[in-house]
Amino acid sequence: SGYHIAIVGATGAVGSKMMEMLEEATFPIESVTLLASKRSAGKVKNFKGMELVIEETTPDSFEGIDIALFSAGGGISKQFAPEAVKRGAVVIDNTSAYRMDLNVPLVVPEVNEEALRTHQGIIANPNCSTIQMMVALEPIRKKYGLKRIIVSTYQAVSGAGISAIKEMEDQAQHMLNKEGYEANILPCSGDQKHFPIAFNALPQIDVFSDAGYTYEEWKMMNETKKIMADETIKVAATCVRIPVVSGHSESIYFEVEDELATVFGIQQELMIAPGVVLQDDPDTQTYPTPLTAVGKKETFVGRIRKDLDEDKGFHMWVVSDNLLKGAAWNSIQIAESLHKLDLVKI
Ligand code: A2P
Repeated sequence: SGYHIAIVGATGAVGSKMMEMLEEATFPIESVTLLASKRSAGKVKNFKGMELVIEETTPDSFEGIDIALFSAGGGISKQFAPEAVKRGAVVIDNTSAYRMDLNVPLVVPEVNEEALRTHQGIIANPNCSTIQMMVALEPIRKKYGLKRIIVSTYQAVSGAGISAIKEMEDQAQHMLNKEGYEANILPCSGDQKHFPIAFNALPQIDVFSDAGYTYEEWKMMNETKKIMADETIKVAATCVRIPVVSGHSESIYFEVEDELATVFGIQQELMIAPGVVLQDDPDTQTYPTPLTAVGKKETFVGRIRKDLDEDKGFHMWVVSDNLLKGAAWNSIQIAESLHKLDLVKI
């Protein structure tokens, strides 16, 4: 026998990828339950050649479920994750609802898998931009220590859901046809104003919060300290949406503790690091881009170079598929780790 798995938000951009990634999981699966809103109930999706019927999410949907993967927005997680836990499931939540809760582990398996041992039913999947940054920086931190991070992101539209992708495609089509266009979703569906993303760049992801930073930027700053379990790391983020369908890119400046760190040494660490692919050779124009990273589970790193003024400062370019390592794949990896560490009640 194996696990009974539920996916909440199975019709969404991340939920669909969760189904694909689950097909590649190595732990035993007994059944898969697909959950979404009432609007999608009755629709059919394929899983390993089987036709699965989508059901409306209710508290009773979680009867008999061992692992519940949530990606239907923070409100849905707040509403239903406790119901799932009450019924004996372990929840892996892809939203920001529980990430900073002290009794919720925030896990990137390559970095802090052991944090899973303290879970009390809910485990949080970090923000997509945070995850790929952690995968790339942890091997460097282990070898050389890490004092400071300054990151600017170039984030894909799929992070804002299927409707945002559709909006960008419509805008692009209309602009190319020299027709009028609308903006109703980005930069952030809950905010007062909307701007076109097609042929544009929007320096706002999620709503604005304290000190002039957006909530997305706060997520990167706070989550980094929690995942690396180090409150002393200095982190500043600027998060920007660009008209790419999938694949987040990041320009990361970082300062290490060890003055012996070199570009070559960093490349050596990244070459053997789990989940990392080094694509770094200016002579052959080798560096990662979203189009080459999309569909892959790894985090791609290139453009590693020394800062010219700061002795312990370096720059690099990090790209990963935001729907895979940034969301669905990291969630399935967490499930794999839970299985390996025998942390799922069954
Ligand atoms: P539905 O398709 O039925 O609306 P995305 O991030 O791509 O926008 O996807 C959001 C996901 O969240 C979809 O699967 C969506 O299902 C799901 N969702 C939205 N509202 C609810 C709800 N009230 N209960 C359960 N799932 C919901």
